[in-house]
Amino acid sequence: MKIKTTLGVAMLSILGAVNGNAMAAEKLTYYCSAQEDWCQLMATGFEEATGIKVNMTRKSSGETLAQLKAEASNPKGDIWWGGTGDPHLQAAEEGLTEVYESPMQGELHPWAIAQAESANNGTIGIYSGALGYGYNEEVLKANNLPEPACWKDLLKPEYKGHVQMANPNSSGTAYTTLATIVQLFGEDEGFEFMKGLHKNINQYTKSGSAPIKAAARGENTIGIVFMHDAVKQAATGFPIKVVAPCEGTGYEIGGMSIVKGARNVENAKKFYDWALAADVQSRSLEVKSFQVMSNKAAKSSPMAPDLSKLTLIDYDFKKYGSKAERTRLLKKWDDEVSVLSQ
Ligand code: F6P
Repeated sequence: MKIKTTLGVAMLSILGAVNGNAMAAEKLTYYCSAQEDWCQLMATGFEEATGIKVNMTRKSSGETLAQLKAEASNPKGDIWWGGTGDPHLQAAEEGLTEVYESPMQGELHPWAIAQAESANNGTIGIYSGALGYGYNEEVLKANNLPEPACWKDLLKPEYKGHVQMANPNSSGTAYTTLATIVQLFGEDEGFEFMKGLHKNINQYTKSGSAPIKAAARGENTIGIVFMHDAVKQAATGFPIKVVAPCEGTGYEIGGMSIVKGARNVENAKKFYDWALAADVQSRSLEVKSFQVMSNKAAKSSPMAPDLSKLTLIDYDFKKYGSKAERTRLLKKWDDEVSVLSQ
């Protein structure tokens, strides 16, 4: 009897070890640069769909690129999902991402494939959305401020201390803003614009959507963000008005990339294909994420900004997502704008 029990325990521990090893392999380290609630939904959705345990970190787009660079000699992440496409393109150019051609490509809009093509399949587009700003109507009224409608309105002295945007080094939203203004007005005038705007900025946040969340809470007046992030606050019930600037605007193609040298590369590929499916992308609406999704069959909401009705610039992703241009523009912003007194 004693022998039997000992044997049983031994068998159980061998089985446990085998199972443990199998379980240890079934995991995914997931870096996410979208909003926290959507990041979480994707993590739990993937766990439920596959049984693979997801370990998630949420950081803004520029911060995640910096993390991939820092970890390049000993990669810890497997998949990077969400965030603006420019840093994903830069990561691909710098060899920080794996080349992967998903069998889901045939279901995607051409703009999503174009991102993959320009990076030799080192990244792919997962959503798109236009840049703009939003303001708290009640705070605006309480301060007797006029309703802004254009980019250049934001330079008016009466908005001093009322405008918030993120730091373009950490945030993809803010880098898109910088690159949009340069493409819209030309580099010299664009930088003059950024310097003028700087006088009215009350804070450069780390994350791109923080300025409109602060406006929703009444702690800020105008937030320069993607229009879908402003719509999200309005749809949640806050008095936020969404503005498509009168001069026209830029847009993002949100990215997804597999980390070069990923320890769980097969699971990363599973996530990649899964995240491109229409039913998974349609779940963005559950967390009021109103981007245009890259799968042609994904559902969209009538609340989502209609990109076809906006005046969009022909945003040059190849150029502004290149290491040379992104590094140059950020350095110029650091040297010539952020150092100015307000
Ligand atoms: O999920 C919201 C969102 O605005 C995305 O559309 C965008 O890709 C991402 O956040 C950018 O975040 P950040 O500016 O913090 O890098």
